[in-house]
Amino acid sequence: MCGIVGYIGTKQAAPIILDGLSKLEYRGYDSAGMAIYDGEKINIQKSVGRLKVLEELTHAGATMPGFAGIGHTRWATHGIPNDVNSHPHFNAQATISVVHNGIIENYIALKNKLIKKGYQFVSDTDTEVVAQLLDYYYKGNPMEAITKVLHRVEGSYALGIMFAEYPDQLFAVRKDSPLVVGKSEDGCFIASDVPAILKYTRTVYYAENQEVIQLFADRLQFYTVDEEPIEKEPVTIEWDAEAAEKAGYEHFMLKEMYEQPKTVTDTLMPRLKNNDIVIDELQMRDEELAAVKKIHIVACGSAYHAGVTGKYVLEGIARIPVEVDLASEFRYRNPILEEGAMVIVISQSGETADTLAALRESKARGFKVLGIVNVVGSSIAREADSIMYTWAGPEIAVATTKAYSAQLIALYLLAMKFAKVRKTVSEEEFNALIFDLKRLPEQIELLLSNKEKIQKFANRYIGAKDIFFIGRGIDYAISLEGSLKLKEISYIHSEAYAAGELKHGTISLIEEGTLVTAVSTQPDLYQKSISNMVEVKARGAFILAVTNVGNTEIEKAADYVVYIPQTNQYFANSLAIIPLQLFGYYVAVGKGCDVDKPRNLAKSVTVE
Ligand code: AGP
Repeated sequence: MCGIVGYIGTKQAAPIILDGLSKLEYRGYDSAGMAIYDGEKINIQKSVGRLKVLEELTHAGATMPGFAGIGHTRWATHGIPNDVNSHPHFNAQATISVVHNGIIENYIALKNKLIKKGYQFVSDTDTEVVAQLLDYYYKGNPMEAITKVLHRVEGSYALGIMFAEYPDQLFAVRKDSPLVVGKSEDGCFIASDVPAILKYTRTVYYAENQEVIQLFADRLQFYTVDEEPIEKEPVTIEWDAEAAEKAGYEHFMLKEMYEQPKTVTDTLMPRLKNNDIVIDELQMRDEELAAVKKIHIVACGSAYHAGVTGKYVLEGIARIPVEVDLASEFRYRNPILEEGAMVIVISQSGETADTLAALRESKARGFKVLGIVNVVGSSIAREADSIMYTWAGPEIAVATTKAYSAQLIALYLLAMKFAKVRKTVSEEEFNALIFDLKRLPEQIELLLSNKEKIQKFANRYIGAKDIFFIGRGIDYAISLEGSLKLKEISYIHSEAYAAGELKHGTISLIEEGTLVTAVSTQPDLYQKSISNMVEVKARGAFILAVTNVGNTEIEKAADYVVYIPQTNQYFANSLAIIPLQLFGYYVAVGKGCDVDKPRNLAKSVTVE
C-alpha cells in the first residue's frame, strides 16, 4: 500500500504535495519522491527513507518550484526500498512521470516486451513499466496513451501521471486501489486517501474503477476508459483529519480488520494462475520441493500461531512432517535439523530479533530458509534464501490482524503447492481447495458485517478477570490467536488450551460464570469438543462457541454460538479468527484501552 498525491493550481505544488504525503505515511514510508513541472521540464527528486529525508533534500519543496506535480510515499512490493526504486518513475527523457499505488501483475511480461523493443529499465519496480509503456504509446495525445496502457496492464493501480508537453494538466486513473480527487479555489488535487487533501478541500470525488481524470488548475474532467466524458457528484467530507487517516474507523486495528478481505485477495490472487498455485518467489523447482523431508516453522507471537496452523495444514494436506518452534526457544535449544529439512520463518515486521536469530542459526547450519514476511526489504526479507510476501500493506496497530490473515493464506498456498508436487491430493480435491480459497475474502466480509452481535456480547465481559479459549487441532491454533488478541489489548488474563488438556489441571481455575470460548470448526472433532464444553459447563463456565454453520448440535452445550460459513476444514482459521478479533477489540474498547498502542508492547520486538 503506498500513498500518492498530486496538485495543479495557483500555488507552489511541492509544499502542498509534501504536506499531503505526510498525512499518508501510514500507507507506506520506506521511500518518497516528487515530480514537479518547473516551467520548462519535469524536475524529479526522490530518496529512500522516511518523508523527512525528501523534505530535507528539497528544503521543504523550495528547491522544486512549480505549480503542478505528483508525489509518492512508498510501501515496497516489487523491488527493495532504495533511491532508484522510489517513485516517481519516468521514461528515458523524463518527459513522462508516474506515481503508483497497487500491483501490476503482468509487469514482467510487459517489461520483457518493452526490452525487446529497445527500452532500458533502471529499477526493479512494476511501476517503471507503466512509465515506459506510456512512452511507447504516447504520440502527442496523453489520453490516447493512457487508455492504451489501461488496456494492457493487469492488476491494481491508482496512478498519477504528468506529461511535460502538457504542463497545464495532470492525469489520474484507478483500478482497485483507492483514489480521491479534490477541487478548491486554488487548484485541483488527487490523493490515495482523504487525509492528504482535507486541509485544502472537503469537496471530493471518489474515482471509480477505470475512470480517467484530467485535472487543470481550475477544473476537473472525468472520462471512461474509452475516453467518454462522465459527470460525477462530489462528496463533502465531514471527518476530522485524524479520523480520515483511519478512513472513519475509530482505530487502526478496526480499519485493518476490515482490510482483511483485500489483504487475503492481494496475497492470494497473484499466486493463483489458471486454477493452479504459482509461487515463483520460492525459487525452488518441483523436484526440490519433492525432496523436502521435513519443515521447521519458527516465529513469535501471532506469527507463531499462524505457524501452528501451518503445521496442521501442511501435515494434513501435503502429509509432510512439520515442527513448529517459538523463535526464542529454537535459537537456544540446539535444534536437530536433518538433511532434507527446510526452515520457514514467519514475521510481519521482518525485524523480530528472535526470528531473525533463528533464521541465521538455520542458515549457519546450511539449511535453506523461506521467509513469509510483510515488510519488503526488511532484515528477514534480505537474509532469507527466498521470500513469500504477504502484501498486507503497512500494519499500524500493534495487535496484528490483516498480516496474520495473510500469513495463513501464504501457508495454505505452500501446503497446496507441496501437496501438488507430492501428489497427496487428487485433482478433484485440489480444485475444491482452490474453490474454497477463492471464497474466503467474501466470507470474511460477511463475518465482519456481523460486528454488532459480537460487540453486544463483548460488552458483557469488559469486567472479566479470566477468559479461556479451548480447541482441538486447528481449533487449538485458533484459540491461541484469539486469546492473544484479547489479552494484549484488553489486559484481561486469558489462556488458550488444547481442549483435551484442560482436565489435566487448568480446569481447576474454572469458576461460576468464567467465560470459556470453545472453537469447534473440525467436523471430525465436533463430539469431542462438545464433551469438553460439558466438562467446563459442569464447573460453572459460560460457553461462547465458534463453529461452522450447520453444527447446531453444539447449542446443547454452548450458551452463545457464533457460526462461520462453510469452508474447507484446513482454512477454518481464516474465518473463525474474525469473530475472535472483533471480540477482543470490543472488550478492549469497552474497557477504554489504547487499542492501537497497548501498554508494554511494540509493533516490532527488535530486542531479545
Ligand atoms: C501480535 O498481535 C503481536 N503484535 C505480536 O505477538 C507479534 O505477532 C510478534 O511480536 C511477532 O511479530 P512479527 O510478526 O513482526 O515477527
